[in-house]
Amino acid sequence: QLNDLAVRAGLLYFGTAVGESASGSDSAYAAIVNNKSEFGQVVPENGQKWDATEPSQGRFTFTSGDITANIAKRNGQYLRCHTLVWHSQLPSWVSSGSWTRASLTSVMEVHIENVMKHYIGQCYAWDVLNEAVADSGAWRDSVFLQVFGTDYFPLSFNLAKKYDPDTKLYYNDYNLEYNGAKTNKAIELVQIIQNAGAPIDGVGFQAHLIVGSTPSRANLATTLRRFTSMGVDVAYTELDIRHGSLPAASSALVTQGNDYANVVGSCLDVDRCVGVTVWGYTDKYSWIPSTFPGTGDALIYDSNFQKKAAWTSVSSVL
Ligand code: XIL
Repeated sequence: QLNDLAVRAGLLYFGTAVGESASGSDSAYAAIVNNKSEFGQVVPENGQKWDATEPSQGRFTFTSGDITANIAKRNGQYLRCHTLVWHSQLPSWVSSGSWTRASLTSVMEVHIENVMKHYIGQCYAWDVLNEAVADSGAWRDSVFLQVFGTDYFPLSFNLAKKYDPDTKLYYNDYNLEYNGAKTNKAIELVQIIQNAGAPIDGVGFQAHLIVGSTPSRANLATTLRRFTSMGVDVAYTELDIRHGSLPAASSALVTQGNDYANVVGSCLDVDRCVGVTVWGYTDKYSWIPSTFPGTGDALIYDSNFQKKAAWTSVSSVL
């Protein structure tokens, strides 16, 4: 079972994102989520995002976020918490408000205070800031960038530290795995936070990857080390590896397994790589087909909860 193997191999956990609705309606789905030998860590797929927790200003709801937090509590699994400051799934009262630095600082502080205090003591790590770099390698445009420039990077981490001093504070993004312009900009982001004297403990590599286009184990490890050499932990936080076209040929299933092994293997190769999280574990509920139409089958269990070649491949590298 993957978490048991991962822990024996020196990682802190092997984990999964939890779909809030599937976990309540599909008992076969829930049974595997609740198996700590398989998944030693969980993260809410949507329930802790701003649109879920503060849909209108000052009105906080934790019903959805608590689903996964309670699963973690019952099973003794690590909880990764996701996410505080993000341009997406951000309610329009924030994204379309007309803010000054002072008023948006206060909005961020109220949000971060309420959400972090609600989950205090429960989160192994918090994704404080999500996807602040664009794919081009520019800063991601958002209401936060427009009001603060890059000052909202250290601001977010300082506020997070203030309201939960004991959790690991992460920057989290995708396509950092390719070690290109976007990766360079994420390095700059970490430097900006550190130079401002703000706390950052880790960088999350989402790893929404594509079968046949996943970097080699050695290249992935090199990229992870660019960050760990700055004194932060790293983790794979949202791993899935999608087929570019469906149905996948049998050779593509083998390639997918090798790609999974390269990602997990690279985490084993890097001292401060703490763990690997898949973004859901079954093709039955993956976000991929609706977001990247025509692609999919990106996970390690099929739609009938059968283990795929990718599962076997991960288990043998661990
Ligand atoms: C995705 C969820 O899986 C979907 O259910 C939702 O509709 C959109 O967001 N990067 C992230 C995750 O940090 O929060 C996103 O999750 C996937 C990309």
